[in-house]
Amino acid sequence: MQWPGKRLSVEIGNPPAQLVECFSAPQGQPGLLLHGDNRDSLSWLLAQGYGGKVQLIYIDPPYDSGVAWTSRVRLRGENATVIGERSEYTDAWAPGGYLQFMAERLLLLRELLAPNGTIWLHCDYRRQSHLHLLLEEIFGPDCFLNTIAWRSQTARGAKVHAHYFPHSTHFIHIFRRAADSQPVWNPPRREIVLSQAEAAAQFMQDAGGFFRTSHPGSYSFEKLVELHAAGRIYAPYGGEVIVDGNERRVYASNGGNIGIKYYLEKRGRSRYVVTRAVDNLWEDLPGLGTIPSEDVNYPTQKTMGLLRRIIETGTNPGDLVLDAFVGSGTTVAVAEELGRGWIGCDANWRAVRTSELRIAGGELTGGEIWQVGDAGIPREGNESSAAVTATRTADGLRLEILKFSNPAVDRLIAQAGIEKPADWRTTVQAVLIDPAHDGEVFRIGMIDAPKGRTTLVAGVYTLPLKSDTVGPVAVRLLDVAGGELLVVVGVDAIIRE
Ligand SMILES: C[S@@+](CC[C@H](N)C(=O)[O-])C[C@H]1O[C@@H](n2cnc3c(N)ncnc32)[C@H](O)[C@@H]1O
Repeated sequence: MQWPGKRLSVEIGNPPAQLVECFSAPQGQPGLLLHGDNRDSLSWLLAQGYGGKVQLIYIDPPYDSGVAWTSRVRLRGENATVIGERSEYTDAWAPGGYLQFMAERLLLLRELLAPNGTIWLHCDYRRQSHLHLLLEEIFGPDCFLNTIAWRSQTARGAKVHAHYFPHSTHFIHIFRRAADSQPVWNPPRREIVLSQAEAAAQFMQDAGGFFRTSHPGSYSFEKLVELHAAGRIYAPYGGEVIVDGNERRVYASNGGNIGIKYYLEKRGRSRYVVTRAVDNLWEDLPGLGTIPSEDVNYPTQKTMGLLRRIIETGTNPGDLVLDAFVGSGTTVAVAEELGRGWIGCDANWRAVRTSELRIAGGELTGGEIWQVGDAGIPREGNESSAAVTATRTADGLRLEILKFSNPAVDRLIAQAGIEKPADWRTTVQAVLIDPAHDGEVFRIGMIDAPKGRTTLVAGVYTLPLKSDTVGPVAVRLLDVAGGELLVVVGVDAIIRE
């Protein structure tokens, strides 16, 4: 395959990196969120000794869609009004730029994979054939394992009438690191739940319930006798099961082959469950459009169910999973849930924040955010201000946010033509607190990131004091427009920014 400026090599440097935030007290290896261009982040991981250590890589890179992706800016609280949009990332490329970009990342990713690891590349119709060829060039044709076709949506509205069929499918190309390797393979099964009528239409029935049959294969005579005693042998054509001890044979009286009965599991009063193997057509995992409860307001977010299937199939607990285009953090959130180690990279600071808030909402094993390369973290919201008090009490440290305002958010509210809410908390998405700030790394001792749209941050917090010495307290306020404000206060003092 050729493209303008093709070069199948990449320099592996050792870019500068800085630890900027930690969440929770890590036990064991903390998860890593790396902010910066992933070419730098992947080089940095190699320089840190992660080469050959990653069991599974899932990537969902830009699709060469030409779209400038945005997300909604929405006030929190009862009405959760949308007041504007903010840009997230742009997926537009010069000729040849997209494939060169992907080639450089794939070359680095290959070095990070464990000898028996797998890479899963998620894409859509636009570039799936080019990306397959590119993977063949970089990993070798013999490393191709499969391509999953995932129904990501069901065409609705105008899309139903698309010329030459709607695009409702995404593709996931799976390659292994080495052609002679045996990657982890935990074959997934899927459950199909049937009503009584559906079960009756598809299965045979006897006093034991609905069943299907399968050929007895090489079962021994003793095993067949045992199954017969349990009522598990089926004789076709209304015949009976004959057990001939002399001939050591179990057969059907009216001819035809006997079969072993497999009963459907009954669930509740009138539902039946069939378990089937999963093939490479995944129509049973709904897209985000039908799971609004998972939506964290990041464009192109994938579903937890999809990542659960991928990670459970290709890894075991304790294995390391990497997503170099982590977006809203779906991969790392699922890896955390399933007890796998995780690393997520993204060039968009808000993606890193969204991933962090998603993970930090649960039981933590701990995580670190690193700034890699020299892009710097965009600290929007510099116009913001807040008033915060920190006081020592008998219980520990009491922190109260008295007010917060960001003129950028106020302007959006005015443009939306709505009245400014009296409660500042409607403009704040999350509050992070470092009770002993060292001026460099923000170590989160408490995080208040309410789920859902209607709940507000508390604004008043009590933290246990771990020692007599109380350092300055740092509070980070994340507003709904993506702005961030850091307020550092001395204890027992009132400081205004
Ligand atoms: C399709 S989205 C990933 C969505 C993700 N799978 C999820 O479930 O939310 C692609 C992501 O790649 C990131 N990205 C694009 N170019 C990048 C680069 N050079 N380095 C790191 N991240 C990049 C974008 O910021 C975006 O968040």
